[in-house]
Amino acid sequence: MSAAQFNLSPVSEVMGAAIVGEDLSRPLTPAIIAQTRQAFLDHHVLVFRDQHMSPENIHDLASIFGDVEQHKVRQEDGSRWDAVHRITNLDDAGNPVEKPFFSSTYFWHTDKSFLKTPALLTMLHAVELPPNGGDTQFADMTKAYDALPDATKRRIEGLKAVQSLEFMRRYTGSAPASEDDIAAAPSIVHPLVRTHPETGRKSLYIGMYCSHIEGMPEDEGRALLEELLVHATSDRFVYSHAWKDGDLVFWDNRCLLHRAVANYEMGKYRRVLMRVVVKGSRPQ
Ligand code: SIN
Repeated sequence: MSAAQFNLSPVSEVMGAAIVGEDLSRPLTPAIIAQTRQAFLDHHVLVFRDQHMSPENIHDLASIFGDVEQHKVRQEDGSRWDAVHRITNLDDAGNPVEKPFFSSTYFWHTDKSFLKTPALLTMLHAVELPPNGGDTQFADMTKAYDALPDATKRRIEGLKAVQSLEFMRRYTGSAPASEDDIAAAPSIVHPLVRTHPETGRKSLYIGMYCSHIEGMPEDEGRALLEELLVHATSDRFVYSHAWKDGDLVFWDNRCLLHRAVANYEMGKYRRVLMRVVVKGSRPQ
């Protein structure tokens, strides 16, 4: 390993690697950028420990990977998220609540899959953490696809799923999408099995935005989607990230599902993470 490179240690047997001693708030050398890109493709989730990132730092870091997403959907108070925003369990007065406005994040999903060009990656940086719990879980959709019986692979080959913000809000028991939200993000059709644009590997492209299968009776499509989700999120495909102060975590939305875990006293403790999303390409 050259002096310009960092050490990685696996964080689980399923996926993910941690890096200690790299300061991401400083401009990165081309060698570190190249190593980070390769590590991202190899491990899918990267955990950089002990970071102190401002919103500008995190925006600059995300921009290395592509265009930073500008958010279209409105929050409870009618405003839209900034490109770098906070994911919290806080109400408008800043108090922790059991059911935050954006509680859909506690359901399995891949970011922005209701858009024509969904997310490539998402970064989260720990700002305030509960004393225990408040994990984020990741499920490997490539391993899940590979482990399907051949008959299931044949059954789902070429199928397309309709993905919809409006459906997701109903499915997760969230506030209904407004006319404005629906106009900004009408439902979209994506392949049920997508091919990673960089690795060429196939993975399931499912989660809470998937409403039904195009051209299939609704009940049958819903049953298939639920069956695939149960399979794909079984323990053998999942890594649970237990946050530490200073963690900066980013993951590949093109081959993973993720969700926040309500394994802490949400009505009592604050959980605040800085977040930014990088746009990807149209799933193929
Ligand atoms: C997200 O869904 O992007 C955030 C997950 C989390 O809050 O752990």
